[in-house]
Amino acid sequence: AESYDFVVVANRLPVDSVTEPDGTQGWKLSPGGLVTALEPVMRSADGAWIGWPGAPDTHIDPFEHDGITMVPVALDETEVERYYEGFSNDTLWPLYHDVIAQPSYHREWWDAYVSVNRRFAERAAALASHGGVVWVHDYQLQLVPGMLRESRPDLTIGFFNHIPFPAYGLYSQLPWRRQILAGLLGADVIGFQRTADAGNFQRAVRRLFGYETKGSSIRVPLEETGERRPEKSRTVVARAFPISIDSASFAELAQDPDVIERARQIREDLGNPKTVLFGVDRLDYTKGIRHRLKAFAELLQDGRLDAEETTLIQVASPSRERVAAYMELRDDIELTVGRINGDYGSIGRAPVHYLHHGYPREEMVALYLAADVMLVTALRDGMNLVAKEYVASRIDGDGVLILSEFAGASDDLRQALLINPHDIQGVKEAIMTAVDMDPRERKRRMRALRRRVLENDVAKWSKTFLDELRRASHADAGKA
Ligand code: G6P
Repeated sequence: AESYDFVVVANRLPVDSVTEPDGTQGWKLSPGGLVTALEPVMRSADGAWIGWPGAPDTHIDPFEHDGITMVPVALDETEVERYYEGFSNDTLWPLYHDVIAQPSYHREWWDAYVSVNRRFAERAAALASHGGVVWVHDYQLQLVPGMLRESRPDLTIGFFNHIPFPAYGLYSQLPWRRQILAGLLGADVIGFQRTADAGNFQRAVRRLFGYETKGSSIRVPLEETGERRPEKSRTVVARAFPISIDSASFAELAQDPDVIERARQIREDLGNPKTVLFGVDRLDYTKGIRHRLKAFAELLQDGRLDAEETTLIQVASPSRERVAAYMELRDDIELTVGRINGDYGSIGRAPVHYLHHGYPREEMVALYLAADVMLVTALRDGMNLVAKEYVASRIDGDGVLILSEFAGASDDLRQALLINPHDIQGVKEAIMTAVDMDPRERKRRMRALRRRVLENDVAKWSKTFLDELRRASHADAGKA
């Protein structure tokens, strides 16, 4: 059987299934940032990507796409319900996002999470070459590092958590809190978005296991196995590696004449309003869409914004539509949008343009260019790449970013107008400050933001993580 020196394990494969014009089934690389970051590494290091194709009962043999070996993992209908919709997105997701929605704890969901994690770990163990590197991604697969270390102690294992890691007072709700920590500690390097997330993780490790931590290092005692082992503990590194985007490709699209023309067209289609506000999110309760709409509606109500000359475009891409909290959110937002348009609209003018679709990257960049003010009001967000995409796309150096302090991106993007989304009055003031901001200040802020995002792109992120992983594996080899 073939083996690979570099294996990525993620819940999803980085491809979308497409139907070709001749009716045959094909694959297209999904535009996500992770795959753009890892593509060069995957190609040069002979890489394989293990992931779920995204639909139940899809049994497909491994295949090659754009020089990457894709290894599909099949989930049956019950596993999709319990592992993906249940434990991942109705237990861990709300818990890790500070219980904005109530997490559900069900033992059958946990059992499915364990068995699906084992399936991913077994695939990785079967594919990785001796001494190879395995990089596991995100909250859906937190048990994989521990399972892999048991069966393949020769491997170097990295884990990156794309979402927040909660404070101990919340984390400790989880009935399986010890098992998850033990799973994560199977990695040599555990990456988080923010320093605060890494701190929360380390605290949980101290509280639940009593292990010593120093800086970013955690000393994990080795279990007594009966065998004589040269060392008594291993070092696990847990620290922040803030993720980013492929900044240059956004900047490049923003120079494309078709995209620029499309941006102009969008404003024209809206009736050339004085101000275009823009929000784009997966339709998720963590994103603070309700708070944003409330602030906007109040500004119309107060007469501080004029419905005739202001438009809010809200793109909400469909997400996790079979999970109850997401259905309720959708109803709620659509009701609110309908009310705002009913109260403040007129013939041919709707103050809110709400779109429940996903869009290709070209259209996104056109929207970024058409937007005077970008609204990122997440209640909790690991990073929020939309904020970075907006900045990377503004090659004209104009536009104002309003950014929640509760998004990881705010650690770096200090020149945005930072807001607390729970403080509706504060959000309203920030919107007015953005709308009224003098062009010189807009440009000064955007210049500073662009410098950060162009410098810290996703290629740098993956390199920094993989360099740390290499160091960690050498450090361990040195001790043995
Ligand atoms: C977040 C998570 C990812 C996830 C994505 C889309 O960004 O960190 O792991 O893939 O949302 O969610 P979905 O459930 O559709 O994969």
